[in-house]
Amino acid sequence: MASSTKPIVICFIFFLSTLSSYVCARSSSAIPKPKAWPLQFHSILWMNYNGSLEMIDLWYDWSNGRNFNIIQSQLGKLLYDLEWNNGTSFFFTLDSNKECRTAQLEVGILRPNWLDGAKYLGQRHVDGFLCNVWEKADFIVYYEDVLTKRPVHWVFYTGRQAHVITFEVGAVLEDAKWQAPVYCFDKTNELEATVTASQGRVLDGFFEGPRQL
Ligand SMILES: *[C@@H]1O[C@H](CO)[C@@H](O)[C@H](O)[C@H]1NC(C)=O
Ligand SMILES: *[C@@H]1O[C@H](CO)[C@@H](O)[C@H](O)[C@H]1NC(C)=O
Repeated sequence: MASSTKPIVICFIFFLSTLSSYVCARSSSAIPKPKAWPLQFHSILWMNYNGSLEMIDLWYDWSNGRNFNIIQSQLGKLLYDLEWNNGTSFFFTLDSNKECRTAQLEVGILRPNWLDGAKYLGQRHVDGFLCNVWEKADFIVYYEDVLTKRPVHWVFYTGRQAHVITFEVGAVLEDAKWQAPVYCFDKTNELEATVTASQGRVLDGFFEGPRQL
């Protein structure tokens, strides 16, 4: 009896070990990675912070080291948030009030691969799209369309949500539009201290916090 069961047991152990190595190989290669951002794109975002709505025209331009958020709050202000890769940000309006505030962040704009190292949370439906979902540093949860790998949605730790409405890869805003107005360079308008934790939080190039003028 012992002599006849031995090959079966050996075969079974061999079967288990190949099965487990197959399963392990499958599961490690199956953990999806977020797609890096294109070097240049234009996106329209709808933002919802606890029912307070904004529409953002986002011009991401890594190639030229700049990022522009043109923020229209519902029936409210049109605010320009221009960020340079050297950490300088200008927040301004282009109306007769001539408001401008400058800020110096310790980091530049978001790197295209800023999602590297994010923790995979699995798949969920959001805004009607089946998405792969990642979390980065308790700061942001990011949803990417499974089929097209385009960003669909993200949520900051504050609860502020972005819904991606358009995503035009390669679109670039003309150079003249990147010029902050002269009143941003007034002597009286001193460069503000580095943005601190009390004003908001920064992850890579993301600043999440109040942006009032
Ligand atoms: C969200 O909005 C509601 C209603 O306006 C308000 O009562 C609540 O305090 C707000 N919550 C936050 C976190 O701002
Ligand atoms: C960063 O670059 C912008 C655009 O060229 C410039 O206006 C700003 O003064 C620079 N900031 C610093 C700290 O060099």
